[in-house]
Amino acid sequence: MEYTMLPSIGSVSPRGAFGVLLLLLFSFSTFTWTEAYDPLDPTGNITIKWDVITWTPDGHVAVVTMYNFQQYRHIQSPGWSLGWTWAKKEVIWNMMGGQTTEQGDCSKFKAGIPHCCKKDPTDPSNAVSSFQVSVGSAGTTNKTVKVPKNFTLKAPGPGYTCGPAKIVKPTTFITSDKRRITQAMMTWNITCTYSQFLAQKTPSCCVSLSSFYNDTVVNCPTCTCGCQNKTEPGSCVDPNSPHLSSVVSSSGKATNTPLLQCTSHMCRVRVHWHVKLNYKEYWRVKITITNFNYRMNYSQWNLVVQHPNLDNITQLFSFQYKSLTPYEGLNDTSMLWGVKFYNDFLSSAGPLGNVQSEILLRKDKSTFTFDKGWAFPRRIYFNGDNCVMPHPDVYPWLPNTKNIGIPCTLSEYCTSLLHHLCKDKVNPNVKNA
Ligand SMILES: *[C@@H]1O[C@H](CO)[C@@H](O)[C@H](O)[C@H]1NC(C)=O
Ligand SMILES: *[C@@H]1O[C@H](CO)[C@@H](O)[C@H](O)[C@H]1NC(C)=O
Ligand SMILES: *[C@@H]1O[C@H](CO)[C@@H](O)[C@H](O)[C@H]1NC(C)=O
Ligand SMILES: *[C@@H]1O[C@H](CO)[C@@H](O)[C@H](O)[C@H]1NC(C)=O
Ligand SMILES: *[C@@H]1O[C@H](CO)[C@@H](O)[C@H](O)[C@H]1NC(C)=O
Ligand SMILES: *[C@@H]1O[C@H](CO)[C@@H](O)[C@H](O)[C@H]1NC(C)=O
Ligand SMILES: *[C@@H]1O[C@H](CO)[C@@H](O)[C@H](O)[C@H]1NC(C)=O
Ligand SMILES: *[C@@H]1O[C@H](CO)[C@@H](O)[C@H](O)[C@H]1NC(C)=O
Ligand SMILES: *[C@@H]1O[C@H](CO)[C@@H](O)[C@H](O)[C@H]1NC(C)=O
Repeated sequence: MEYTMLPSIGSVSPRGAFGVLLLLLFSFSTFTWTEAYDPLDPTGNITIKWDVITWTPDGHVAVVTMYNFQQYRHIQSPGWSLGWTWAKKEVIWNMMGGQTTEQGDCSKFKAGIPHCCKKDPTDPSNAVSSFQVSVGSAGTTNKTVKVPKNFTLKAPGPGYTCGPAKIVKPTTFITSDKRRITQAMMTWNITCTYSQFLAQKTPSCCVSLSSFYNDTVVNCPTCTCGCQNKTEPGSCVDPNSPHLSSVVSSSGKATNTPLLQCTSHMCRVRVHWHVKLNYKEYWRVKITITNFNYRMNYSQWNLVVQHPNLDNITQLFSFQYKSLTPYEGLNDTSMLWGVKFYNDFLSSAGPLGNVQSEILLRKDKSTFTFDKGWAFPRRIYFNGDNCVMPHPDVYPWLPNTKNIGIPCTLSEYCTSLLHHLCKDKVNPNVKNA
């Protein structure tokens, strides 16, 4: 069982003692960035902008705005909370939400530190949220004002690390009558980055694989996300248990701890990648996402998939997608998500929910092959968290066949290539894997 999320470029292969030493130096010197580094979203961050709007007799009024600059990591229900420590003895006099978007519920505010203001965005594209704070600290001027320290962002759980506040060029605002441009007295930016390692000690998601050309279904590695504890009753739920519904409904819904269906992998989510069909110029993949956590309904989930052929998706059924290009020239990564009101919701109710989609990919003749597991994804994230792949050694193999490469027409199933295996549209063993 491996749980690593190394950058796909610049990897170091240790050779003997020298190599190990190099690797150690490498990891020390780059500790701060590898910690939060996501190769598929290298600049991903949440920026908090703290604009001092006016000086008041005893402090200042600030508008605090949060920008989510992450490609695919949205803030899940129950929303984010932001905390900080005041640098001096400031007091917050009031706090209001909804400068640009919805209201944050700050009504329960009591002076004290750190203060939290929760918010529950309803739209993942709604990447900006803002609220206003008034800070009291007698005799403050722009020379003596201090920005709060130690910002902590929970969205909703742990995982984000925020850097120190930096004084930046003051923000300019356009007045509501659009006639005047005003400028903040002072502006600080705080950048927060996400690290899956900080968010959770164990993985939460795994990948299983199958193909039309081999009956083997490669399940998620055993104990990927944890091991079943047979001696501890109630650590997971047997889906065939007659008491299933009462167990699920009775056990504290409010808690964030997952209530998992008993599986060999014990992950909350499994993504199944089935290489379904082979045409002359195209091939087809079926993706199934299954939720094993009875305490979670995923709304507005997303899946990030990296595969060399994703540079040319021809058709995607029932999901939506967007290509991600984290670097210039890297075009093999796509983000998929559900269609609103149809499958953007991965339920945990009753028989565990799953959502499915098929992707039709156009073959690039120079690279396409079913050999050596090429047709399987290189990397998958569910809601921004890395899904553990099976070991490449166990990927389904292509059976030995001599009839490779004889043309067949686009509309019919490939009759020559892998003839005996292509007859069935779907591998009967993995209908609902
Ligand atoms: C945060 O994200 C924005 C937008 O992608 C980027 O311009 C900025 O450089 C990032 N900041 C850091 C500190 O990475
Ligand atoms: C502080 O305020 C004075 C006068 O209002 C202004 O000249 C100065 O540039 C300000 N300094 C900073 C760091 O904003
Ligand atoms: C901020 O956090 C650091 C490390 O956790 C701590 O040493 C420091 O005292 C904190 N500062 C404030 C003002 O709380
Ligand atoms: C501060 O953050 C805002 C909002 O993300 C951004 O527009 C601005 O460019 C940032 N300033 C600097 C100097 O990074
Ligand atoms: C299983 O649960 C028992 C009782 O709670 C505990 O003592 C034991 O350490 C657990 N074993 C594992 C492998 O987690
Ligand atoms: C998930 O959604 C289903 C169907 O709407 C509902 O019955 C169930 O209570 C929800 N579960 C949770 C944990 O919210
Ligand atoms: C992508 O597919 C289209 C047709 O679906 C084709 O015309 C184009 O050449 C393909 N591009 C690459 C780079 O393979
Ligand atoms: C994707 O990138 C590769 C290599 O950088 C390039 O050969 C290929 O044409 C690109 N595909 C598209 C559709 O741009
Ligand atoms: C299917 O793949 C497995 C490896 O996962 C291999 O052991 C087996 O021989 C393959 N089956 C056929 C018919 O080639």
